[in-house]
Amino acid sequence: MNFDLHNFIILNSIMFITFEGIDLSGKSTQIRLLEDYLKGKKKKVVIVREPGGTVISEKIRDILLDKDHELMDDTTEFMLFSASRRQLTNEIIIPSLKSRHYVISDRYFDSSTAYQGYGGGLDLKMIGAVNSIASNGTVPDITFLLDIDINCWLKRKKSLSRSADRIESKKITYYRKVIEGYRNIARMNKKRFEVVDGSMNIDDIHRSLISSIHRFEKRKSQ
Ligand SMILES: Nc1ncnc2c1ncn2[C@@H]1O[C@H](COP(=O)(O)OP(=O)(O)OP(=O)(O)O)[C@@H](O)[C@H]1O
Ligand SMILES: [Mg+2]
Repeated sequence: MNFDLHNFIILNSIMFITFEGIDLSGKSTQIRLLEDYLKGKKKKVVIVREPGGTVISEKIRDILLDKDHELMDDTTEFMLFSASRRQLTNEIIIPSLKSRHYVISDRYFDSSTAYQGYGGGLDLKMIGAVNSIASNGTVPDITFLLDIDINCWLKRKKSLSRSADRIESKKITYYRKVIEGYRNIARMNKKRFEVVDGSMNIDDIHRSLISSIHRFEKRKSQ
């Protein structure tokens, strides 16, 4: 990012917030509540989702989630996620932060590290290098990990009886690796991460997110 000092000062009071966690961990639920809360405080808010969020990125999302693409190579999959992310970052995230919007992203580069790295076994160094390019060096101010275990995931999955898309039909052992992967990433990025027990009730989680944001905002403006 080639921000000048003026941009830096403006961005210093604005938050880039990302949500991470396995499928059904409650990201969309919490993002909706947080959006309402911030808008209620008259903040300008932009919500984006990964993979997707721009015309080009949504097309890449369709390729990624297509059940007919069983032959997709793991690295191809990762590159597609990264291409989608790069487009989203440059087209939406950076300009929105510059125009003083809170940006909330439903998944960001930590998803690649957790799913394609820890879950799929791709080289973590390679993922880290590509993540930097895909995000154009844009690191979230705060990343919420909604942490649920495999039993909670199975319970929610059964109660919804969703039809499985290509990624969701991968095995339980894969999900276990992703859950552990997320916990590792959070441990290695303690300053940026807030790990929240995703099995708590929805309102308690929401309240805890808001107090974390206040704490991070205070720290950022100091
Ligand atoms: N804290 C919670 N306790 C119980 N159920 C919850 C909780 N949070 C969300 N749910 C329920 O779990 C399901 C999944 O929630 P949600 O869609 O928000 O998850 P998600 O992380 O966005 O999933 P995906 O990655 O598949 O988009 C929904 O039916 C939602 O109502
Ligand atoms: Mg969701």
